[in-house]
Amino acid sequence: MNRLIITSNRLPVSIEKSEKSLTLTPSAGGLATGLKSYHKENDSVWIGWPGVTPTTKKEAGEITALLEQEQCLPVFLSEEQIVNYYDGFSNATLWPLFHYFGEFTEFNETYWESYYQVNLQFAEAIIANAKENDTVWVHDYQLLLVPNILREKRPDLRIGFFLHIPFPSYELIRILPWREEIIEGMLGADLLGFHTYDYARHFISSVKRLLGHDVEFNQIKLENRQVYIDVFPMGIDYNKFEKLALEVQSKPIQERSKEHQDIDRFLMGKPDRKIILSIDRLDYTKGIPERLKAFRHFLNKYPGYREQVSLIMLTVPSRTDVEQYQNLKNEVDILVGNINGEFGTLNWNPVIYFYRSMPFENLIELYSSADVALLTPLRDGMNLVAKEYIASKVNHKGALILSEMAGASRELGEAISVNPNNIPQTAEAIYKALTQSDKEREKAVLAMQKRIKRYDVHKWASEFMTALKSTIEKQLDHHAR
Ligand code: G6P
Repeated sequence: MNRLIITSNRLPVSIEKSEKSLTLTPSAGGLATGLKSYHKENDSVWIGWPGVTPTTKKEAGEITALLEQEQCLPVFLSEEQIVNYYDGFSNATLWPLFHYFGEFTEFNETYWESYYQVNLQFAEAIIANAKENDTVWVHDYQLLLVPNILREKRPDLRIGFFLHIPFPSYELIRILPWREEIIEGMLGADLLGFHTYDYARHFISSVKRLLGHDVEFNQIKLENRQVYIDVFPMGIDYNKFEKLALEVQSKPIQERSKEHQDIDRFLMGKPDRKIILSIDRLDYTKGIPERLKAFRHFLNKYPGYREQVSLIMLTVPSRTDVEQYQNLKNEVDILVGNINGEFGTLNWNPVIYFYRSMPFENLIELYSSADVALLTPLRDGMNLVAKEYIASKVNHKGALILSEMAGASRELGEAISVNPNNIPQTAEAIYKALTQSDKEREKAVLAMQKRIKRYDVHKWASEFMTALKSTIEKQLDHHAR
């Protein structure tokens, strides 16, 4: 039978190592959180990096056994590969470039060589596990070369690829010294999927201009086959969020978690008090300093809201060995300190700041309690947090402020849209979100819920798979003629 092999740099679960034991924890980020429910419900195998480097053969065996329970297979990276492939080419070259941070982008031959070697290593792990005609679904920017390596070594495989981050304009991609290799690597797939029409359009224009291939509508014509391009905006496991939010809402106060009780206490008996929420990995693409500045602007312009509203800002540590992330952490720490120092009182913290990850149940509690979600990335492939927040608003009482630079803004047209670089505009959006009538909020939430419920993560994955299947049929048909 035709099996599905999923592959991404990071597995949906990571291994944490303490002195005595190994434990499995859920991985952060849209790819892992979005795709894991699909993986759980399908008979797929997921190949990727578990986030640790084993020090002995015995430990490698223990990690492999733990991952097997989750239908995952590890690709182990050496310390040197983590520096050059992961921190280096993936996160100091491709990540900034694809998010339009040209000034952060590093060009380094050693990074590139390591990137190629690790992509080869992933392809070999897939090949070792793939039976004839199996389907392989490759994910994201860390593995752009895998499709073509697989195509050359195992032409029987059916290869799909999905990019979870933006594909930038040709004007950005053209500056990369390895631009042709990257695009050729991706073209090894039968079907390439993107979150938005713009990303697909940028990719097609780069293919034409850099490699000169003919393009007919969404087909790229190579010498002996076609590659299909299509748009699949990733969804969330809607029913899971809705169900848990209903449970949270109906829980008696004394059974709630400590954090939830603290929020309740903050709101108790003060009907005008409000909570604004933001959740992201601590990443410079997420616009965290800009968001804090907008909140400060808001407190200055609307002093009546002081002591009435707090920004709960959850930032999840990410890529902590990359310099830009360390600098950002310092900048955010200072800004939060400044705002709390300037406006805070004995009874009120304007910004309640967490730098850690939180268990899933706490996230749902935060989503349910928040009056406003303030999600202001400078660039974001999709932003599934926006969809999770909307799905959790089972009482329909929530406003969403969303950056127009997030892929999700294409589907969430009823959100209050901002250009995150425009600080006064974002401050006004906060005011608008806080003063909207219940009726306005409800109307917007209901419209967004309807849309994201219909196109959830299961629909997203099954549409991709159906499109891949029909692509293969067209290829076979073409060769038969
Ligand atoms: C984004 C990327 C994912 C990545 C995640 C977390 O969502 O698209 O590929 O896994 O960030 O980043 P990390 O570097 O910790 O895997």
